Amino acid sequence: MNVLILGSGGREHAFAWKVAQSKLLENLYIAPGNAGTAHCGTNVAIGVNDFEAIKNLVWEKNIDLVLVGPEDPLVNGIHDFFLSDDVLKDIPVIGPKKDGAQLEGSKDFSKQFMIKHSVPTAAYATFTKENIKESDAFLESLKPPYVLKADGLAAGKGVLILDSLEEAKAELKKMILDSKFGNAGSKVVIEEFLKGIELSVFVLTDGKSYKILPAAKDYKRIGEGDTGLNTGGMGAVSPVPFADEAFIKKVEEKVVKPTIAGLNKEGIDYRGFIFIGLMNCDGEPRVIEYNCRMGDPETEVVIPRIKSDLLDLLNGVATQTLDQKNYETVPEIATTVVMVSGGYPGDIEKGKTVSGLNDAGDSLIFHSGTKQEDENVLTNGGRVFAITSFGRSIEDAVKKSFITAEKIKYEGKYYRKDIGKDLMMY
Ligand code: AMP
Ligand code: GLY
Repeated sequence: MNVLILGSGGREHAFAWKVAQSKLLENLYIAPGNAGTAHCGTNVAIGVNDFEAIKNLVWEKNIDLVLVGPEDPLVNGIHDFFLSDDVLKDIPVIGPKKDGAQLEGSKDFSKQFMIKHSVPTAAYATFTKENIKESDAFLESLKPPYVLKADGLAAGKGVLILDSLEEAKAELKKMILDSKFGNAGSKVVIEEFLKGIELSVFVLTDGKSYKILPAAKDYKRIGEGDTGLNTGGMGAVSPVPFADEAFIKKVEEKVVKPTIAGLNKEGIDYRGFIFIGLMNCDGEPRVIEYNCRMGDPETEVVIPRIKSDLLDLLNGVATQTLDQKNYETVPEIATTVVMVSGGYPGDIEKGKTVSGLNDAGDSLIFHSGTKQEDENVLTNGGRVFAITSFGRSIEDAVKKSFITAEKIKYEGKYYRKDIGKDLMMY
């Protein structure tokens, strides 16, 4: 098969690394890719939202399957674009159509979906200009802290968690009336705050059946001890020790099954990954959010733990034969440590020369934001590498990642040295 992967991060490098090992693969293309994906296939300098250029590439290279990494092209309707085009309509796209991508693209839609299909989640109400007068009373009915979410995609920045009632009232008005998050915030979801430990569960579905992929925990804050600004993710661990078999079974019964059944009831033919952000509230799973794609950096620990042929599984999604596919995971623990540019998640400088990449030791070096220029690998984003290692314990795995991260050098390099530490007591 000829495969095209869309995206340029560590998630896409992990996908490319795994697909490149498939017996079914003939040629692999990544658009736009990065310096790391170039070792797994051929990078093509096309943006993920340039649907016309993607169409030409798919035609020219005889692509048999397209795997979409990020949410943007899905929410923008890349799958619908393929289905409505005579040339592309029979080429499977892994990732939902616009209707299914609403699970991530609209917080209001996803909350309505959860309530309608009895998926456990936080109580909520949605506000716009029209009913903003009622927002103060709703906020007053909740206990602090207050959770405010811009309805639309806001590049991971659309969630505010505030301790003060007055601040929450004011921020809501800024979002709706002063367009604090642009159009994404013209509708705002206010939610009950959930106390518990957070984790992510990933599902691959062909619309009829599903496979539950390994669970993972990510580390969102820039600083050690979970302090400082939110980031795209500074590290991840899989499996999650407190998410034992019994808990995952609960997630399957109370969350995964009603979600898949709900999609069917809504007439949404969903083919792709569902990323379920969960809170473990005293042993009970409650859904914080859905995403219509895999997580980054969670993919960098989830995908290496899948033993089976990923392309075979994706082909099962495309042909709705996922239930007949072999799916096995490895028991070892995987950790990933994300190396970022100085200044991240604020302003960063790109173009720093990287050295020390030739000795990966016992780790997999996934590139998140790099580019190749002649002989050199240059930094090209906030997140630069995700260093994944296996071990029999979290300590053992993460130690290997730190050894490799130490060897890699570029100006301004930073990574958290406490990835997995909070989980070591379990
Ligand atoms: P989201 O963009 O929906 O993933 O929200 C960002 C982060 O805010 C989540 O990963 C949680 O840590 C936190 N969060 C979101 N909603 C809630 C909630 N209802 N209760 C507690 N924490 C939340
Ligand atoms: N690591 C969180 C995300 O991919 O959204």
